Amino acid sequence: MSTTLPSRTGKAPGGWPLLGHAWQLHARPLEFLSSLPAHGDLVRIGMGPWPAYVVCEPEAAHRMLTDSRTFDKGGPFFDKARVLFGSSLPMSGWQEHRWQRRQMQPAFQSDRIEKYAVVMGEEVDRMTSGWRPGSRLDVTAALTRLTLRIVTRSVLAAEAQDAAVAEVQESLHTVIDGIYQRVMLPLGPLYRLPTPANRRYRRARTRLHAAINGIIAARRAAPGGEDLVSMLLAAHNDDTGGLMSEEDIRDQLMVMIGAGFETTANSLAFALWLLSQHPEVAAQVYAEADRALAGRTATTADLDALPCTRRVINEVLRLYPAGWFFTRVTTADTTLAGQHLPKGTALLYSAYLLQHRPELFPDPDRFDPDRWIQRSAETLPRGSHVPFGGGNRKCIGDQFALIEMTLALATVCARWELRPDPGATMTVQVRGTLGPGPLMMTCRPRGKEAED
Ligand code: HEM
Repeated sequence: MSTTLPSRTGKAPGGWPLLGHAWQLHARPLEFLSSLPAHGDLVRIGMGPWPAYVVCEPEAAHRMLTDSRTFDKGGPFFDKARVLFGSSLPMSGWQEHRWQRRQMQPAFQSDRIEKYAVVMGEEVDRMTSGWRPGSRLDVTAALTRLTLRIVTRSVLAAEAQDAAVAEVQESLHTVIDGIYQRVMLPLGPLYRLPTPANRRYRRARTRLHAAINGIIAARRAAPGGEDLVSMLLAAHNDDTGGLMSEEDIRDQLMVMIGAGFETTANSLAFALWLLSQHPEVAAQVYAEADRALAGRTATTADLDALPCTRRVINEVLRLYPAGWFFTRVTTADTTLAGQHLPKGTALLYSAYLLQHRPELFPDPDRFDPDRWIQRSAETLPRGSHVPFGGGNRKCIGDQFALIEMTLALATVCARWELRPDPGATMTVQVRGTLGPGPLMMTCRPRGKEAED
């Protein structure tokens, strides 16, 4: 076990007074993170004036993720985000989290996901039936609309309130962009000035809150549903003796939707781009979609017949994990990778860093879905493939996301081939999530669409 080994702790070179490594993390985050394992299993960096350790060794990452009581949510960026997201599931501390997670987990059980999969199919149909042969579209934007519709419809279960769902979809982008900026660039009072951007953010926030409050009020008036909103309304905390306040429920729903759309949209957009660059892989995915679906919409009954599509998704999540870095803080003195860490030490883990370690993933920058034939995720060392994190803070939407991405990718590939402009390139954009940025591609019909 790494805890019994001598310390392999290092220090990242090139930090600046006060700024630490904030500039490297901001300007070339992926290169910076990938350079760190050369300096040790646990590498000290400066996140602005605050020191933090980056966990570069998979077993140490596994220990950190699975001992969530000692390595709790926290750290410099995190504390700023908490002010904006309230104490929702990803933001809550260990004790509160255990209770919250128990309340929400039933909304992600397999019988519920079967129901969400119907929504996924309807929405993928709606998207692909709007495409025309030869039409050129920004694939990332189209997929973002798709996944936002899927997650809002699933989480809010607000069929009867289409207007409220549309309002959430409309204002959420502005709110998330505003929050990201306020976390990464904490300019305090400047955000209170009546600039057009600040006014836009505040207006969108007010509208978003009003729309979600409306959905909560409607559920309160008709209790007993099986959706997440109804579960949160019924949640009773025996320790605190209380129900969740309206504000808490609203924060939970906003964060759930926020966590559940850009992540899956970006991963799907990466997948379509990578298929366009790797015709030999694309040919296998198309052949599989033709065999399994013959042009129809994929359902959960098709999942076993789509192993190649699933490998593509797995490889995209390895190569470009949407959630690329997260922080923790120690709640007691402890030891990790042979290093003593006093209470209050900030730590950082990055699925991108861990999943690009060449000794575990040879030629790590290469898109190679076949690497998952030779080696399944279960046989890898613990902590080395963590696109959804691990332990009891593991992504609550992991199965939702995997099923959504597999069904969407297979259905799109059964009907359409998306071709980039000649000579087009893709640049990975690093913000709250990793994404490919706008991707202009042209729709070319396949199968039945091609014959019509
Ligand atoms: C490709 C898609 C996705 C990726 C890569 C992803 C990644 C992650 C990761 C890495 C974490 C753990 C963060 C940490 O360790 O601090 C996480 C947590 C979380 N994710 Fe996801 N996620 C995805 C999709 C979703 C979806 C679809 C939903 C909801 C419908 C969702 C909701 C959440 C929530 C609520 C948490 C906090 C869980 C907790 O603290 O108990 N995610 N996600």
